[in-house]
Amino acid sequence: MAEPRPRVWVSQPLFDDIVGRLGEYFDVDATAEVTAWTPVQVAEKLRGVAGAVVTLNERIGPAEIAQAHGLRAVANVGVGYDNLDVEALHARGIVATNTPDVLTETTADLGFALLLAAARRITEGERWLREGRWRQWSFDTLLGHDVHGATLGILGMGRIGQAIARRGAHGFGMRVLYHNRSRLPAGIESNCRAAYVDFDTLLRESDHLVLVLPYSPQTRHVIDAAALAKMKPTATLTNVARGGLVDEDALADALAGGRLAAAALDVFEGEPRVNPRLLALRNIVLSPHVGSASHATRRAMAALAVDNLVAALGHGPRAGDPPTPIAAKATAKR
Ligand code: DGY
Repeated sequence: MAEPRPRVWVSQPLFDDIVGRLGEYFDVDATAEVTAWTPVQVAEKLRGVAGAVVTLNERIGPAEIAQAHGLRAVANVGVGYDNLDVEALHARGIVATNTPDVLTETTADLGFALLLAAARRITEGERWLREGRWRQWSFDTLLGHDVHGATLGILGMGRIGQAIARRGAHGFGMRVLYHNRSRLPAGIESNCRAAYVDFDTLLRESDHLVLVLPYSPQTRHVIDAAALAKMKPTATLTNVARGGLVDEDALADALAGGRLAAAALDVFEGEPRVNPRLLALRNIVLSPHVGSASHATRRAMAALAVDNLVAALGHGPRAGDPPTPIAAKATAKR
């Protein structure tokens, strides 16, 4: 009698044709509707599967894998993987993978779009127009802050940070400063025309500060009231990484008190819940975590996650060698 095929779980709807490739090797429990799984449901789903394709919605730690005795691989669809307790997975010999690179340029595009929207008050202007408040062209309507020639600050100079830096330096003639855990090689700095500075200098000198660093307990609220107080009152802050990097109440205070010109957030600490104080402000651009949301990039992310799972479970052309494993002790590189 033929061996039963291993079973895998796909936690959210991705692309049917891409998920369908898993069917060549596995019995697939594919989720048809967008689902808010509870931790208990995640644990139930993981029990009895050899692998899973998951998203940032599903947190996977010791409790979720406690009964998942056959689980050998978890493929995260996303470059950030703060939803995974990688150490706990590795301790159980479970391979964890993510989807870097394929989303770098798309996420950088969105980051730059948000920066522009905040600086030039684009969404605020649209709301104002739709509310019928535009009576006549006037000289001082919705004055914003220039992006070209200004100082772009990047906090977290991984792949996406570098891609945003290149857009600023080469496309908008910006002076680019960055801060990172470690200074980058000279070749990358020169390609991005970026100069390394300490955190305080970055805060003080940036006209437009973009957050692209990984989230961890160490980086939680890296932008707090004290950090915001060091920024120029004419500056903007854009976050395309993880919501928990910013103390949202402190940000709301700074925006409401005129101590920061504008902000743009694609990510929120308790998403999909958005701090009501942020919702009430006019000088903030809000988008629903869509940094990598282009057709081509989302397909590439799904395909890479599927390739990772197939390979991690010992099948396909890269059997045993998944393209983008998460290294032991790695912090989520972006
Ligand atoms: C990422 O890739 O980390 C995005 O935030 C979506 O998960």
